[in-house]
Amino acid sequence: MGFLSPICAIFFFFGVKVYCQYEFYQWDEDYDQDSDDDYQTEFQFRQSVEYGVPFHQYTLGCASECFCPTNFPTSMYCDNRKLKTIPNIPMHIQQLYLQFNEIEAVTTNSFINATYLKEINLSHNKIKSQKIDYGVFAKFSNLLQLHLEHNDLEEFPFPLPKSLERLLLGYNKISTLQTNAMDGLVNLTMLDLCYNHLHDSVLKDKIFAKTEKLMQLNLCNNRLESMPPGLPSSLMYLSLENNSISSIPEKYFDKLPKLHALRMSYNKLQDIPYNSFNLSNLIELNVGHNKLKQEFYIPRNLEHLYLENNEIEKINVTMMCPSIDPLHLHHLTYLRVDQNKLKEPISSYIFFCFPHLRSIYYGEQRSTHGQTIQLKTQVFRRFQDDDDDDDNDDHDDPEGAHEGQEQEGAEGPFDPHYYEIQEWQETI
Ligand SMILES: *[C@@H]1O[C@H](CO)[C@@H](O)[C@H](O)[C@H]1NC(C)=O
Ligand SMILES: *[C@@H]1O[C@H](CO)[C@@H](O)[C@H](O)[C@H]1NC(C)=O
Ligand SMILES: *[C@@H]1O[C@H](CO)[C@@H](O)[C@H](O)[C@H]1NC(C)=O
Ligand SMILES: *[C@@H]1O[C@H](CO)[C@@H](O)[C@H](O)[C@H]1NC(C)=O
Ligand SMILES: *[C@@H]1O[C@H](CO)[C@@H](O)[C@H](O)[C@H]1NC(C)=O
Ligand SMILES: *[C@@H]1O[C@H](CO)[C@@H](O)[C@H](O)[C@H]1NC(C)=O
Repeated sequence: MGFLSPICAIFFFFGVKVYCQYEFYQWDEDYDQDSDDDYQTEFQFRQSVEYGVPFHQYTLGCASECFCPTNFPTSMYCDNRKLKTIPNIPMHIQQLYLQFNEIEAVTTNSFINATYLKEINLSHNKIKSQKIDYGVFAKFSNLLQLHLEHNDLEEFPFPLPKSLERLLLGYNKISTLQTNAMDGLVNLTMLDLCYNHLHDSVLKDKIFAKTEKLMQLNLCNNRLESMPPGLPSSLMYLSLENNSISSIPEKYFDKLPKLHALRMSYNKLQDIPYNSFNLSNLIELNVGHNKLKQEFYIPRNLEHLYLENNEIEKINVTMMCPSIDPLHLHHLTYLRVDQNKLKEPISSYIFFCFPHLRSIYYGEQRSTHGQTIQLKTQVFRRFQDDDDDDDNDDHDDPEGAHEGQEQEGAEGPFDPHYYEIQEWQETI
């Protein structure tokens, strides 16, 4: 990601108004609970850029508490200054950084002249809902990004400007939303509401339905007991980890055909419809740490499946993959099944159904009496060495590309000798 900052800087030098940081948002780096408890929703804006070229004193004005770099004349940096109030924002400012202060209130007065704001970062402050002047945000008709994560909000901020594209509200205490809170947010693509106090009742009026460009919705670490209703069909990333959701209604995902990634670990899922996840664009599915007992249909494009910490005793591969279509091979590459109740490894037929499968992580399994057991697992290797495959990919030679294509689509019927059982290996 290191190359991004210079690119941003170049654009800024030429006075072009571009927003580099949020284009490079990476879902994969978020909510990686294994590596870090804290979640990250943002690409980190590199603040180490050299501002300091001591040119003439700029004439456009800067709040005395803040820093307005000459190289970034439309940005004002007021972060990490123990500020208790928002300083007066000069008219020309477009990016306003106020994160890590002790601000409690957002008042109209501070922003009286600031009509060109495109981005406001007020994260890590002490802002309370009652101390936000009504309509203060709505009048920023150019605002694209608003950071209010890590504050003391109890209500969803309302009203908001219709121009808004990204709204970050994680780590607050939000428990209420107006029924029409999202109305008019036609350009909203990303909404982060993780780590709040949302209950089902707040979402029952299908409040998200009108955000027709919403691509990412984060509702992790709330108090939901059922799937949020009326999500827009534009959605590609849905995060619902660590709620108390126990079921998925029949055909729930039919209305979300674009879903690429679904994260539902740490819920209470038990019985879910067999074809719940029959979603043609789904690539990542995390339903670890639930109470699932049974396997379900695996859609063709799914690559990563997390099933750890469930109650699965047996996996019937035929259920996951009822038919093999040699023209449309399944894409599954990674399967995690540790901390279930499996008594034996999954049938080797799984490698025929999912020819791209590289590894199954069995880890430890729990027996009914509470002991843990290690499964001896089969390791399959293709006759053709995997390393050769990788080399071909790297060199990008036409032959390699051709082989790749064959694997994708036109591979003939399965030759059972394509795989051999190479060894039985103990895994941890
Ligand atoms: C806004 O502040 C957060 C800290 O809460 C920081 O991670 C993020 O990078 C900031 N965003 C920008 C664009 O500076
Ligand atoms: C707003 O702009 C006017 C005219 O430029 C200026 O006189 C006034 O001091 C500004 N107010 C604030 C709060 O910056
Ligand atoms: C939404 O985005 C489009 C395309 O960027 C823009 O033309 C339109 O003005 C935006 N709508 C609002 C309400 O800002
Ligand atoms: C889930 O949320 C609870 C609080 O509701 C918290 O104590 C727990 O640490 C969270 N677990 C994970 C894995 O995030
Ligand atoms: C999955 O959905 C497709 C249509 O999108 C349908 O043809 C197919 O029968 C479904 N498969 C299962 C197992 O439900
Ligand atoms: C696996 O599921 C298929 C389809 O439901 C069924 O016909 C078959 O008997 C099952 N196999 C085992 C070993 O349970």
